[in-house]
Amino acid sequence: MATVAQYVQTEVEEKILRLKREKNAVILAHNYQVTEVQEIADYVGDSLGLSQEAARTTRERIVFCGVHFMAETASILCPDKKVLIPDLEAGCSLAASVNADQLRAWKAKHPDAVVVSYVNTSAEVKAESDYCCTSSNAVNVVNAIPRDREILFLPDMYLGAYVQEVTRRKLHLWLGECHVHAGIRPDQINAMRKARPEAEMLVHPECGCTTSFLYYQAACEIPGKTHFCSTEGMIHHALQSPAREFIVATETGILHRMKKAAPEKQFYPASKDAVCLYMKKITLEKVLRSLEEDVFEVNVPEETAGKARLAIERMLQLV
Ligand code: 13P
Ligand code: SF4
Repeated sequence: MATVAQYVQTEVEEKILRLKREKNAVILAHNYQVTEVQEIADYVGDSLGLSQEAARTTRERIVFCGVHFMAETASILCPDKKVLIPDLEAGCSLAASVNADQLRAWKAKHPDAVVVSYVNTSAEVKAESDYCCTSSNAVNVVNAIPRDREILFLPDMYLGAYVQEVTRRKLHLWLGECHVHAGIRPDQINAMRKARPEAEMLVHPECGCTTSFLYYQAACEIPGKTHFCSTEGMIHHALQSPAREFIVATETGILHRMKKAAPEKQFYPASKDAVCLYMKKITLEKVLRSLEEDVFEVNVPEETAGKARLAIERMLQLV
């Protein structure tokens, strides 16, 4: 028999689904969202997939279950749609590590440089950028820029160090970091590797441990067992790999999708503490309120959106 808590939740879900139809809305959710929100969403994915999905939707409303910069990106790509975020406090420590004034000052010191901004940035920072990228296409974006051009890469230093290594190019790196990924330390990873020697390592390039892994890999100490991927790339990799066990170095919300996609395999978090409290701000109750009251609308002034759109569209072309 259903408990009261289960009954209330089912009622909330039913209301969400009914209102979604009535209001011609689509629900997009990032891979780090809580399980119940992932389950109610029409599409769950990484930053790149969510941008692509927002760009192609024909619905009038987008309820964006992710963090603010992601909803802003959707609003920039779909200026004629109502983009809603269920909680305005769903921010991002990485996006907050650089603002447009700081970027303008950096550009002034490197006037000929091409600016590549990770999608985890505000609309104002994107508007000052030549290209956006996500963790899935950062290497392709940098490779698309002529080798003789100077590049300012921001704001994540670990992703930047990873791209630098893979493309064999020297980049100017902004020294920003995501507190969740930077907090996954090499000693935690080493302990997990010892405990699960058969497991493959899936590492998000925002992780603080990325740099030491690149060193290990260059030294051939961990041949073939470590893969650097975006959140969506991790799921694809786990599905096609013959391995049965995986240590996952990113935010733990992704484990739900991984276990669902490959129930016969085992997935272990590199750190159980890798939880993004900004992502976890979104709950089913807030999704319902968002649909009921049309809150909270995310709008980007067209002057900023127009410039940011160019950088985002370049990102979408280089998948
Ligand atoms: P992905 O693009 O890999 O989903 O990463 C987004 C993010 O915020 C990672 O912390
Ligand atoms: Fe931002 Fe880090 Fe949270 Fe991703 S995990 S949304 S980068 S704070």
